[in-house]
Amino acid sequence: MLQKPEKSIPLFDCKTTQEVIGQQRFLDAFTKVLNHGGYCQGPETKELDKALAEYSGTKYCATCGSGTDALTLALMAWGIGAGDAVFVSSFTFVSSAECAALIGATPIFIDSDPETYNMDPADLQRAIDEVKKEGKLTPKVVIPVDIFGSPCDYDAILKIAHDNGLKVLADSCQSYGSSYKGRKAGSYGDMSATSFYPTKPLGGYGDGGAAFCNTEEENALLQSCRVHGMSHEDHYDNVRLGLTGRMNTFQASVLLLKLTVFDNELEARDKVAARYDNELSSYFRKQRILPDCRSARALYTINCDDRDELMAYLKEKGIPCGAYYPKPVNVQTAYAKWNTRKVPVCEKLSKTVLSLPMTPYLDKEQMDYIIGCMNEFAAAKQGKAA
Ligand SMILES: Cc1ncc(COP(=O)(O)O)c(C=O)c1O
Repeated sequence: MLQKPEKSIPLFDCKTTQEVIGQQRFLDAFTKVLNHGGYCQGPETKELDKALAEYSGTKYCATCGSGTDALTLALMAWGIGAGDAVFVSSFTFVSSAECAALIGATPIFIDSDPETYNMDPADLQRAIDEVKKEGKLTPKVVIPVDIFGSPCDYDAILKIAHDNGLKVLADSCQSYGSSYKGRKAGSYGDMSATSFYPTKPLGGYGDGGAAFCNTEEENALLQSCRVHGMSHEDHYDNVRLGLTGRMNTFQASVLLLKLTVFDNELEARDKVAARYDNELSSYFRKQRILPDCRSARALYTINCDDRDELMAYLKEKGIPCGAYYPKPVNVQTAYAKWNTRKVPVCEKLSKTVLSLPMTPYLDKEQMDYIIGCMNEFAAAKQGKAA
């Protein structure tokens, strides 16, 4: 009989980092912001822009209000709009496609690889060919999504995109801290976007995001679009459309502090993932991470044909879990008019994936219990004792 741990098991843990860093340091940082009074895009946001660009190895970073803002700002900076086709993973959080739809472009949904769950480059090529053949839309941008923190096959995707005259906007909203062949998230696409929603690997205490780029021109456009399309010369002349996309300065002060322990937290996530990888029964199919890549382990997600039964069983055992995502974007109500392509792998994944507790702070007792319960389920299914 497996012993339930004394400490309850969280699916995500947004609070423990506060104890690790020390709450007083947050209070001191907040007091500093309170006193200088630059609450929107104050000095801490500029410091964070620099720190994140350095961390990601990009020339520029524009912090903003959310990951959705970051994606939308990048598309706005490139002047994407009506008549443009944006090729996007369908097995993702809605924002990856929403950013294109919001500015009047047409999302074209791309299927996933069944093992990495990320955009399938072969299906991307097919979709670009279909759109070109039909001749109604202009193919402009590809948005691959590093699902659950794991980088996409960027060599293949960038080649297909660039050979066809398209740009790549990497949706690294779940993968900040990951790496792809020596490059860090933020630097994967022609531009990249990330999110600091509290449950993300680098989570703030509220909404936040950042867009990354490497050219001065793109950076100037991101800065302008972030503030309603403001002209850099005349702040009361808005020369393009934009958003209220600024980052709150308190949020920047949180993220600057959280960056100081981020690498330790990524290592701790790696250790949790390694235990799952090594000790979970082979009954559960595990997400494949590409060679020479590190996942930021936003979520640890397995794939199993009895997903709904497993969810009910884990609930009974007091182990939180989540089906991310139970519906790919192409079948969601608001996206019905863009549901023009078959994405069978995404639809299958949405019925079989299950995300397990993943935080840097799961202890041995909690992990023993989760793994023990999972393996007990697998053994019962396979008709043998655990
Ligand atoms: C893949 C992906 N893209 C975009 C977003 C949007 O980020 P935000 O919630 O910060 O707007 C998220 C957030 O959950 C996400 O997971």
